[in-house]
Amino acid sequence: MNKFWLLVILALSLACVAAQENWLDLDYATQGNLSETDWPGMCNTGHKQSPIELNAAYATHGPTRLHILNDTVEQPYLALLYNGYVVILHNFTHSIRLSGGMEFRELFYVAEQIHFHCGAEHVLGNVRHDMEVQIVFRLESAASLKEALNQTKGLVMVSVVFAVSNVPSRAMAAIVDTLRGQPLVNESTWKINEMNSIFLMRELYGDIGAYYQYRGSLTVPGCVENVEWIVKAKVQTLTRDQMDTLCHVGGASSLARAHMSYRELQDSNTRQVFYFTESSAKNMQVCWTCVGFIYIILNA
Ligand SMILES: *[C@@H]1O[C@H](CO)[C@@H](O)[C@H](O)[C@H]1NC(C)=O
Ligand SMILES: *[C@@H]1O[C@H](CO)[C@@H](O)[C@H](O)[C@H]1NC(C)=O
Ligand SMILES: *[C@@H]1O[C@H](CO)[C@@H](O)[C@H](O)[C@H]1NC(C)=O
Ligand SMILES: *[C@@H]1O[C@H](CO)[C@@H](O)[C@H](O)[C@H]1NC(C)=O
Ligand SMILES: *[C@@H]1O[C@H](CO)[C@@H](O)[C@H](O)[C@H]1NC(C)=O
Repeated sequence: MNKFWLLVILALSLACVAAQENWLDLDYATQGNLSETDWPGMCNTGHKQSPIELNAAYATHGPTRLHILNDTVEQPYLALLYNGYVVILHNFTHSIRLSGGMEFRELFYVAEQIHFHCGAEHVLGNVRHDMEVQIVFRLESAASLKEALNQTKGLVMVSVVFAVSNVPSRAMAAIVDTLRGQPLVNESTWKINEMNSIFLMRELYGDIGAYYQYRGSLTVPGCVENVEWIVKAKVQTLTRDQMDTLCHVGGASSLARAHMSYRELQDSNTRQVFYFTESSAKNMQVCWTCVGFIYIILNA
């Protein structure tokens, strides 16, 4: 086996360790042999696994009713938790709430943490972009992430895909500013840093706009299939430097840096995928405003 594959397997097993210890606090026992195809339980036997490829041409279209509240509020105790493999942003003091999406219209969700995959997990229109930021929302009525994992509609993941360009991301700048110059850490050492700069969640996505939605799973063991995925259709940008800092917390041998922190595409098993866009109701509103103006002008 060459070094590359060893790294891949190590990366994936570390993803499991991260999941177990800190990430999603899963009660999952890692038993050595952990190449992706050997992930146990649902990861192998499930029929609604994530990530999948998303394409508007094959999706059911509809209007968006999604609301995210408090995503422009400054969070005073926000912290970055990371090791050489994964970076997690957590400790939201003011709840950021999500509601209104199809399939969970009556339910409320709160943001629990945000993490980063180097190499996007969801493939958009045939392209695997450079990074995917996943905001984990748990059902508000569940006391913890762990409890939410055990409920049918326990989680909503809001995902934003990024591509490297010369236009920086403001949200990433706050994270990169906190990570830059920090000593490198290996995969078994967790560090926690308070944020140096103000991070506003809204700046990750601007507004959600058009998005895909489908029923899927966690992309780490145990791959629980209780996740409603919301994937923003428009790809955001970050700079090469921002990407490198974020994917480089573990130094030269960093596994994340090797772009290995994404799970391979899963079979969609003819699952229904929705593609929601700004409702035509909004366009109607614009239209009525227009009519209003014309009316005023005509009567002036
Ligand atoms: C993992 O374990 C299974 C069965 O225990 C075995 O068939 C498989 O070859 C192992 N994979 C690796 C990569 O060691
Ligand atoms: C999380 O926020 C609380 C205040 O809401 C603060 O007391 C605590 O120290 C923070 N924890 C971390 C790990 O930053
Ligand atoms: C927004 O945050 C404030 C301050 O923590 C909180 O009182 C309020 O309930 C939050 N709004 C929502 C919709 O969660
Ligand atoms: C989670 O659900 C499984 C069955 O689906 C059950 O066996 C287990 O006790 C539940 N755990 C918790 C913490 O509720
Ligand atoms: C990781 O770093 C810690 C602290 O620097 C060290 O104690 C530990 O042995 C290292 N582990 C590995 C696997 O390199």
